[in-house]
Amino acid sequence: MGQECTTCKTCTDQEEIKAEQSISANHIVTKTANGVKDKIHKTSQKSTNQTATTSQTNNNNTKSPQIQKKYINQKYKRKEGRKSTLDSIIFNSKKKSEFEEELRQSINSIHERKNSFGGSSAGSSFLSESESCISISNKLFIDEVNDSPSKKYEILSKLGSGSFGNVYLARNKFTDEKVALKQIKKSSANLLSDGEIKDEIEILKNLDHPDIVRIIESFNTKNSYILITEYCEGGELFDQVKNQLSETQIAVIFRQLLSGLAYLHSNNVVHRDLKLENILIHEIEKSKTTGEDLFNIKIIDFGTARIFDKNRKPQSIVGSSYYIAPEVLRQKYNKECDLWSVGVILYMFIVGHAPFDGCDDEEITNNIHRGVYRKNDRRWIKASKEVKDLIQKLLTYRPSQRLTAMQALNHPWFKMTDSNILYDNVPKSDVIKCIKNLLTYNINYKLEELFLAYIIHNIPREKEAKSAIKLFKLVNENGDGKLRKNELKKTVLKFVTEEFLEKYDFDGIFAMMDGDNKGFINYEEFLRAALGRKNILTDDILSYAFSYFDPEGCGYIKKKKIKSIFGNKIDNITFQSIFDEIDLDKDGKITFEDFKNMLLY
Ligand SMILES: Nc1ncnc2c1ncn2[C@@H]1O[C@H](COP(=O)(O)OP(=O)(O)OP(=O)(O)O)[C@@H](O)[C@H]1O
Ligand SMILES: [Mg+2]
Repeated sequence: MGQECTTCKTCTDQEEIKAEQSISANHIVTKTANGVKDKIHKTSQKSTNQTATTSQTNNNNTKSPQIQKKYINQKYKRKEGRKSTLDSIIFNSKKKSEFEEELRQSINSIHERKNSFGGSSAGSSFLSESESCISISNKLFIDEVNDSPSKKYEILSKLGSGSFGNVYLARNKFTDEKVALKQIKKSSANLLSDGEIKDEIEILKNLDHPDIVRIIESFNTKNSYILITEYCEGGELFDQVKNQLSETQIAVIFRQLLSGLAYLHSNNVVHRDLKLENILIHEIEKSKTTGEDLFNIKIIDFGTARIFDKNRKPQSIVGSSYYIAPEVLRQKYNKECDLWSVGVILYMFIVGHAPFDGCDDEEITNNIHRGVYRKNDRRWIKASKEVKDLIQKLLTYRPSQRLTAMQALNHPWFKMTDSNILYDNVPKSDVIKCIKNLLTYNINYKLEELFLAYIIHNIPREKEAKSAIKLFKLVNENGDGKLRKNELKKTVLKFVTEEFLEKYDFDGIFAMMDGDNKGFINYEEFLRAALGRKNILTDDILSYAFSYFDPEGCGYIKKKKIKSIFGNKIDNITFQSIFDEIDLDKDGKITFEDFKNMLLY
C-alpha cells in the first residue's frame, strides 16, 4: 500500500506548491483575525482530545476490523435480496383499483366541502395565472421581528458557544417544540460587519432542504441578532468519529451531507466551514435490517457561508484548520473547497484521525499544502476499495479535478453500502397515507396556500411528518432537494394507474404543489401536500397560526397584516384580488371561522 497520494503528486503544479508553501500559518491567523483564528484554535484543541480518545479506543477495541468486515459481508448479501421501501409496497392491479376507489371517494368529499365554502373541486383550482406565479415560500415568515424572543421562547440550557455568541436550547411556549436559539452579539461587529452577521440569516432564509438546519424565525434585538432553528438532539457528529461506525452507517451520513451540499451548491451557496462540529445529529434511529444506529444529520452554521459569484471569487481565508482546502490557503477558491472538507471528514470516519494533522496550525497547513495523507493505518487498509477511491477523489489537490457533490453522490460506494437504508424504517401505512394526501391535494386560494405554508413551516416535525420527510428523500432519487414531476409520477404510479392520473389531472395537482411554477417542488411544498390536514390542523395549531396573522389579538386577520407579509413582492391589484376572493363580505377581515373552514376540508 503506497504512502503517498498519487493524485496530488501527479496533478500538482510545482509553481503553485511553492507559492502555497510560502504562506505560513501566521499569515492565516492574521488574515483570519475576523474570528477564524478562534475557530482554528478551538478545532486544534478538540482534535487533540479526539486523537487521545481515538487512540484509546484503538488500544481497547480489537474487534473493530472484524466488525467492519462482518458488515461489509452482510451488506453484500442484503444488496441482492433487499428491496427499497417503495419497491416493497408496490401495488398489484387489484390493490390499485381499491386504492383508486378510496381516492375517488376522498376527492368527492373534498369537492362537497369546498363547494360549501365556495371553492372548486379537487384537481382543479381557482388560481389565476398571475396568482400562480406568486411564490409562497417559508422565507415570508422568517423576517426579523424587532421584539424580544422571550415572549415566545423560554431558554432551557446552553448548547454550545461559538465565535460570536452562544447557542441555547429553548422551548416554544405555545407549541412546546424544542428549538435552538443562536445569539449573535452585535458587539462582534468590531470583528464582523453588520452585513456579514446578517448574511447567515439571509442565506438560511433561502434554504429549504431536509439535510440543512431549518431556520424558523429571527429576531433583531438591541444587542443581538437571534436565530431560531430546529433543535438537533443528537449532538455534534464530532462525537461519533471515535465510535468506529460501519461503512453503511458512515455512508448513510455522507449521503445526507452530500445531498445537502449538492443543494447548497446548486443554489450557489458555498459553506466554507464544513467540519465535524458543524454537522449535527438530528435523530438516531435503529435500522430494521441490521439493528445498527443510523444517524439523521443536518448541516448547521452558515456564519461563514457566502453566495458564490463566478466573477468574484471569494478571497479571504476562511475555515477551520484541519478541514481547509489547499486552494483556500492560496486565497483563490470556489465551492469545490467544501468537497475537500467532506473528504477530510470521510477520512476521519474511516481512519479515526485527520488526514492532515500536526502539532500546530503551521504544521497542519504545511501538510495540507503537500496534500499527502497516510495510507498505512490498519483501518485504512481494512476499508473497502470503494470508500478509499471516493476519499481520493475528494482529497484531490486540484479543485477542477475534484468530484462535485452530485458526482460524489453517484459514487459506487453509496450503492455498495446500501446508504438508503435510513429510509427502511418508514412505516408502509404512512407512505400510503402520504401518497393519498398528495393525490388529493387541493388549494383554491393563494391565502389558503399562505396559511398552510406558515403552519407547515412552524409545526413540530413529529409522527407523520417524519415519514413524509423520508418519503421526500426516497422520491428525490438524485438527492438535490428539487422534486420534478417525473420523479413524483414514477412513485405514485406504484400505487395508481396511468389512466387514473390522467383522469384526475396529475399535472394539475403537481402545478398546485409547485405554487410558483418553478418546474419542481421543494421540500416544504412537498410537506404541505403530503401531510394530512385533518391530523395536523388541531385546534391548538390553528389558534397558534391564527395568532401569527392576528398579532394584536383582534379576533380577525387584517388586510394590513397580510399585505405586510407579502411586502413589495406583489402589486396592489394582485393583492386586492387574492384578498377579495376569500373576503366575501368585503369587510377587510378574515375571522377565525373562515380561516379554519378554508384550511380544513
Ligand atoms: N440546532 C442546533 N441544535 C443543537 N445544537 C446546536 C444547534 N446549533 C448549534 N448547536 C451547538 O452550538 C455549537 C455552535 O453553533 P454554531 O456552529 O452555529 O456557532 P458558531 O458561532 O458559528 O460557532 P463557530 O463559529 O465556532 O463554528 C454547535 O457546534 C453545536 O454544538
Ligand atoms: Mg460552528
